[in-house]
Amino acid sequence: MATIQHISTEELVRQRAFGKQVAAYYETRGITRPLAFVRTFGCQQNVSDSEHIKGMLEEMGFGFTEEASEADLILFNTCAVREHAEDRVFGNVGAMKTYKRRRPHLLIAVCGCMVQQPHIAKRLREHYPFVGLVFGTHVVHRLPELMLNALSSRKSVHETPDCDGVLAEGIPTHRDGTFKAWLPIMYGCNNFCTYCIVPYVRGRERSRDPEVILQEARDLVARGYKEITLLGQNVNSYGKGEAHGVDFPELLRRINAIEGDFLIRFMTSHPKDASPRLFDTIAACEKVSRHFHLPFQSGSNRILKEMNRGYTREQYLDLIAYARRVIPDIAFTSDVIVGFPGETREDFEQTISLIREVEFVSLFTFIYSPRKGTPAAVMSDPISAEEKRAWFAEMNRVQEEIAADRLARMVGTTRRALLESAEDGFLEARLPENVVVRVEGDPAWIGKHAQVTVTSAKSWIAEGRIDSIEE
Ligand code: SAH
Ligand code: SF4
Ligand code: F3S
Repeated sequence: MATIQHISTEELVRQRAFGKQVAAYYETRGITRPLAFVRTFGCQQNVSDSEHIKGMLEEMGFGFTEEASEADLILFNTCAVREHAEDRVFGNVGAMKTYKRRRPHLLIAVCGCMVQQPHIAKRLREHYPFVGLVFGTHVVHRLPELMLNALSSRKSVHETPDCDGVLAEGIPTHRDGTFKAWLPIMYGCNNFCTYCIVPYVRGRERSRDPEVILQEARDLVARGYKEITLLGQNVNSYGKGEAHGVDFPELLRRINAIEGDFLIRFMTSHPKDASPRLFDTIAACEKVSRHFHLPFQSGSNRILKEMNRGYTREQYLDLIAYARRVIPDIAFTSDVIVGFPGETREDFEQTISLIREVEFVSLFTFIYSPRKGTPAAVMSDPISAEEKRAWFAEMNRVQEEIAADRLARMVGTTRRALLESAEDGFLEARLPENVVVRVEGDPAWIGKHAQVTVTSAKSWIAEGRIDSIEE
């Protein structure tokens, strides 16, 4: 049984006191409003953690900047899921050395999943001495204390304890969005897919209390948020082993019952835990998005077993078929890995055939990247990198065809969409199935819902027009 540490209110009070000392540190140096440059890599879980980090920084008197050159604090919240993600971080951190030379009081901090790995922490310690603070995923709530230590010490501060996990409630949040919000419902992962580093760097599964989640959701709705995305590595495990007895479908039902005009999204679901009851619940909950992200990773039963995914291709397809029966307009997206150790051309073709069978709206495709300490990293891997890249390109071509066909079929249809952002003089409207359509419109409409008709589709770019705006 995992031991999850609940962070007490007293501890957060203690951290606030450290925060005041941090503010005083800057004030005595004539800096009344220090600036932080925060860069986040990785998944929405990290984005949400960064919102907590920014909340704490704000409480310590910080403002935020997009210019690293003028920052008093540069912070990288990192991802360890693939080697490419790690390389980008090292590149970015390395480039900050010149700023440190120019502004000696500058504090450079690296946190997140990557630094939970001992070999990465060691590399930072030995080769990046200008990084003054390194802290892991289980001590985010201690940021004020760790910053104070780093600011008042000549040596780098490293704090990356390994543990089953912590649950901290009551940390301030600085939300990046004004109409879309991230709402974590659980942390960590117990699945140990053989390729994946997440369970090692994020600890065991732990769920937040349903009442706390509901209160946060009500607050968001009251503040005018139009879209709430529930976050967890495997949201379907929500509430497992907890005395309150609220599982994920029940949580969805309760959030759906909150009055107001908002959309509920969630990610990520694991096929082994996504039950017919979950789809029945979604069918009955009008605020839950009809877009479902359900990573399948591979279409080959042999590879799925090697990956320790806990379902077969047939079970996955049955689940999709059931969902489509009870929610005819449901749209699926997925994650898939090419080149898992020992994958053959036949296995790969099974993946292609699954992609063709399901017809995903879009796919996140990855080439397998060995992660130190995971079982797959020591499995024999005879396929060359070149061949993997060729399969990867082939798979992406197949998906592009499917996505283009799906888009072409959408031309002429009208749907309710959220106007999300402005790009190159156009607005981007997100349809219920998570497809983005370019429309003409006034940037002042961003954050509103509109009726959008799709007018044309070229490969994966759709264009449309706004028929009416909801006030
Ligand atoms: N918890 C989520 C996603 C976690 S990471 C889930 O289980 O679906 C996001 C995606 O990164 C995974 O779905 C997987 O497709 C990919 N991924 C994870 N580890 C990887 C690795 N070692 N190499 C390549 N892709 C990987
Ligand atoms: Fe990684 Fe698997 Fe957990 Fe997802 S379910 S985070 S892929 S171990
Ligand atoms: Fe990356 Fe950590 Fe998320 S490893 S994918 S940022 S949980």
